[in-house]
Amino acid sequence: MLKNTLLYTGKAKSVYTTDNPDLLILVFRDDASAFNGEKIAQLDRKGKVNNLFNAFIMEKLAEAGIETHFEKLINPSEVLVKRLDMIPVECVIRNYAAGSLCRRLGVEEGKVLTPPTFELFFKDDALGDPMVNESQSIALGWATAEQLEQMKVLTYKVNQVLTDLFEKGGMLLVDFKLEFGVFHDRIVLGDEFSPDGCRLWDKETKKKLDKDRFRQGLGDVVEAYEEVATRLGINLDSI
Ligand code: TMP
Repeated sequence: MLKNTLLYTGKAKSVYTTDNPDLLILVFRDDASAFNGEKIAQLDRKGKVNNLFNAFIMEKLAEAGIETHFEKLINPSEVLVKRLDMIPVECVIRNYAAGSLCRRLGVEEGKVLTPPTFELFFKDDALGDPMVNESQSIALGWATAEQLEQMKVLTYKVNQVLTDLFEKGGMLLVDFKLEFGVFHDRIVLGDEFSPDGCRLWDKETKKKLDKDRFRQGLGDVVEAYEEVATRLGINLDSI
């Protein structure tokens, strides 16, 4: 597959067109950013670890019947994906309170959320990805009611599959963010699932094993991502 022109440079990935209009190549870089780009760094190996991590998760989700944009790994930094028409609304599920929920509502970190909460955020860097609701998303033309319903059902299904998967590795899936797009009229999971876009804690010690290590300056960021990967049985020998 030929990598053609650079279509878009995100905070951690670059997107290239290919000779097939239905397919794109994503390149996972070592860039880390937090607080809407205020804190940035280069973290050696992060791009490759996240690419291999994401490929493993996307395959598990596909096995569970969730359609994703993942096609195949090209090399440790690059993946071939379907070209989706992205919906600019991010879906977040929380199983335990953390991050912006604690700041917004004054809740103690780690409080169990029963049932898990579902939130929407408008994907807009200039606005700092504000929280939005369903009626705003529909009225502003970002998604239809049917699309939002499908995204919600799929996000809860992902939560079930991945909560079980991380539990087997001795971890709690605290929260995570998903992005969806449209591919030939179907809602398909896009972007990536990696420790950059979720919170994972060790079940016993509650040690943070995700991007909060970078946000909070806890150190050993990529080492923690590698620990999560190893616990899931992901082979990182190639990188
Ligand atoms: P939050 O606590 O900052 O709202 O984030 C909730 C979860 O969603 C956390 O795992 C980080 C992830 N997330 C992103 O990765 N990118 C985003 O733009 C948003 C809003 C959340």
